[in-house]
This record gives sequence, C-alpha cells and structure tokens, in this order.
Amino acid sequence: MAQTKATHITWHDHRVPADRRREVKGHYGVVVWFTGLSGSGKSTLANALDCMLHERGYHSYVLDGDNIRHGLNRDLGFSPEDRHENIRRIGEVAHLMADAGLITITAFISPYIEDRNMARDLNPGGRFVEVFCACPLDVCEKRDPKGLYKKARAGEIKEFTGIDAPYEIPPGAEVVVHTDTESVAESAANVIRHLEKAGMVPTAGTPL
Ligand code: ADX
Repeated sequence: MAQTKATHITWHDHRVPADRRREVKGHYGVVVWFTGLSGSGKSTLANALDCMLHERGYHSYVLDGDNIRHGLNRDLGFSPEDRHENIRRIGEVAHLMADAGLITITAFISPYIEDRNMARDLNPGGRFVEVFCACPLDVCEKRDPKGLYKKARAGEIKEFTGIDAPYEIPPGAEVVVHTDTESVAESAANVIRHLEKAGMVPTAGTPL
C-alpha cells in the first residue's frame, strides 16, 4: 500500500458519536459490497436492494462502477494498477459514507481479493458485507447487456475481466447470490436477511 504523501497532518476525531447517527437513522452505517463479473447482475441487484431498503425508510445509496468511472475515477482505465486504484478510492468513499450512517451499496467488478479485503478492513465489526454475484461466465457472456463480451472476444477490448483479465472468486463472502437461478427479488431478500441477522438493520417491526 502507498504511504501517505503529506506530512504535518493531524487526525481530527468526530464529535458526533456513531451511536447517535445510528439512532437518528434507525440502522447502522454499513457497506454492502457487490462483486462479480460484468453482466453478473451487480448493478441490477444493487438498485433493487436500494429500492427495498428505501421503502423501509432507510438511508441507502448505490455507488456503481460505470457511473463512478464517468466522474471521480475518470482518469482510470482497466490495467491492474488502475483497477487497484479504482477500488482503493471506492473503498475509502464507501467507508466515509457508511461512517456518515448510510447503507452504502457498491457495484464494482473488484476482481482482486486483496483490494476487496482492503475495503473490508476499513469497516470492522460486521460493517462490511461482501456479496458475491455468482454467475457462470458463459451466462454473463450470453446476456452481454452492453455488447462488451462480443467486443472482447473480437479483440476490440483488451484486458476484459473473465476473457483476458482475471477475476478472483471471494473465499469468504458473507452472501453468495446465484443470479443465474434466483430472481432479483430473491437475491435482494437474501442480502436483507443477512443485514437483519447481523443486526445492521432492524428485523421488520423491531427497532435496533
Ligand atoms: S473494476 O474491475 O475496476 O472493478 P468497474 O466495476 O469499475 O471495474 O467497471 C466495470 C465496467 O466497465 C463493466 O461493467 C463494463 O461495463 C465496463 N468495462 C469496460 N472495459 C472493461 C474491461 N476491460 N474489463 C471489465 N469491464 C470493462
């Protein structure tokens, strides 16, 4: 990991305690980190989950790979170094948002275990929920919603995840959703069930 470049900087603690933020929101600030191949359903599921949480009156927000690459990370491509930096920045942003009390849902391929673990380590105490969108490559490739697999196979896109760039399967994801066999609602409900069991959000009708 790169060292902090600046010198003469001082950490300032927040005066509003985390408990107080949780009381205001009625749930914990937590990062729900979706990972999986392009076309595995991360964005669809992230947005479905966002809607379900929103309907319960919770404060959630989706950070999505394609969107963030239009702004904050517009200077990054898809080399291994750029993907590391992409996930490093998102990990930090997601941590800040969760610290502010939001249920922060991220949808990035995030192909490397090491990078996902870095994001995880920023959110101890069960405040990081890794959700692996397990969907076989051939199914993602058949879906090909953006026509990118076709281009990758034709050699028009280089370093495409699953084709000529790696994806490392998470060995310890809190939730595994099988987006090739489950419905979006089923998968999203599985994630909510985990959040309830982990005490991050109230079980229906019971305040935290
Ligand atoms: S990550 O690997 O750095 O986590 P991220 O989730 O931000 O990737 O962006 C992935 C999205 O960018 C894909 O869903 C796809 O739409 C698009 N994309 C464009 N080029 C590539 C590529 N070479 N590999 C993977 N995705 C790509």
